[in-house]
Amino acid sequence: MSLEGFFRRIPKAELHLHLEGAVSASTFAELAAQNGVALPDGKPTEDLYSYGNLLDFLKVYDLVCASVRSADDFSRITFEALERCALGGARYVELFFSPHAHLAHGVTYSTMLEGILDGFRRARERYGLVAKLIPAHAKPLGAEGGERFLDMVLAERPAEIIGIGFDYDERPNPPGMFLGIVERAKAAGLNVTNHAGEDGPADYVRDTVDLLGLRRVDHGYHVVDDPALMERCRELDVVFTCCPSTTLVTTVWRDLASPDHAIRRMMDAGLNVTIHTDDPPMFGTTLDREYALIAKNFGLSPARLKEVALAGLAASWLDPETKRTWM
Ligand code: ADE
Ligand code: ZN
Repeated sequence: MSLEGFFRRIPKAELHLHLEGAVSASTFAELAAQNGVALPDGKPTEDLYSYGNLLDFLKVYDLVCASVRSADDFSRITFEALERCALGGARYVELFFSPHAHLAHGVTYSTMLEGILDGFRRARERYGLVAKLIPAHAKPLGAEGGERFLDMVLAERPAEIIGIGFDYDERPNPPGMFLGIVERAKAAGLNVTNHAGEDGPADYVRDTVDLLGLRRVDHGYHVVDDPALMERCRELDVVFTCCPSTTLVTTVWRDLASPDHAIRRMMDAGLNVTIHTDDPPMFGTTLDREYALIAKNFGLSPARLKEVALAGLAASWLDPETKRTWM
C-alpha cells in the first residue's frame, strides 16, 4: 500500500473542523456569484485563500460565510465537507459552524440547521459517515452576545447538537468572559470546548482548564510556554485538538520540521494531542495530509500514528457505548 493509502486508511475522527472553513474555492466562487456577494478587487477565490495571520484569515472566512444563504447552500457545503472527510479516512466528524456570521445576513438559525442536517443525512447515506454539530460562539461578540447565542442553541436542539465551542479572535477576549455561558451550557447537558492558546497566551489555556473547567482545548499550542501547566494538562488528560497546517498561518510556529514546533513538543511531553484540519481547503489541506505532515516532520512510526487516530476517537463526544464499538 502507498504511504498516502496508509494515511487515508487509518480510521480517524475529525474533531476540529469548521463548516464554513471547509468550503472549497470553487464552491465559494459559485455561491458568491449566485448570492450577489462581491469579492475584493474581483479576485479569483483561490487567490483569496492566502493570509498572513489569524485576523487576515478571519476576514476571508467571513466572506465565505456571507456567501452561504439558503438551506440548499448549507446542505451543499455540509455534504462537500463531509465527503472530503470520508475520502480522507474519517469515520466520525464533529463539525463547528458559525451562526452569527449567517444571522448577520438575514439567514435564520432554522434554515442553517435544516440545510446542515440534510447534508449530514446525505453523507451518512453515501459514505456511512456519522457527524455531530457544534455551534460556535464568536468571542468578539462578548458575554452578552454569548448568552443570546446559548438561548438560541437551547431553543432549537436536534440530537445532532452535542456541544458548543468558542472561536474567532482570541487575544482580546479571555476565557473568563464566558464563564457564565459555559456553566449554563454544561447544566443543560452540552459539551463545551474552547479555542485557546492559538495566538493567545498560556494563561488562556490555564483559564480554559481551571476556570472554565473544560477538558478539551482547540489548538492550545501556547501551553508549551508554561511547563507546570503542561504537567497539569498531562495529569488531567486534557485533549488538545491540534491542526498542523493552521499553525503555519496563525501561530508563531511556522516550521513543522523544527524540533521547537509546539505540536511536536506537546506530543513529546505526553499531552493528549489529536490531529485535525480546522479549515481544510482554506489552509490547503485534508485530514490524511495532516497525518502525513506530522509523520514526515516529527518522524512518527505507523504504530504511533494509529495511536494518535485512536486518541481522536477516544476524545470524541460520542457516547461511551458507541465509542467502545468503534475502537
Ligand atoms: N474559526 C475558524 N478557524 C479558526 C481558527 N483557526 N481560530 C479561530 N477561529 C477560527
Ligand atoms: Zn478552529
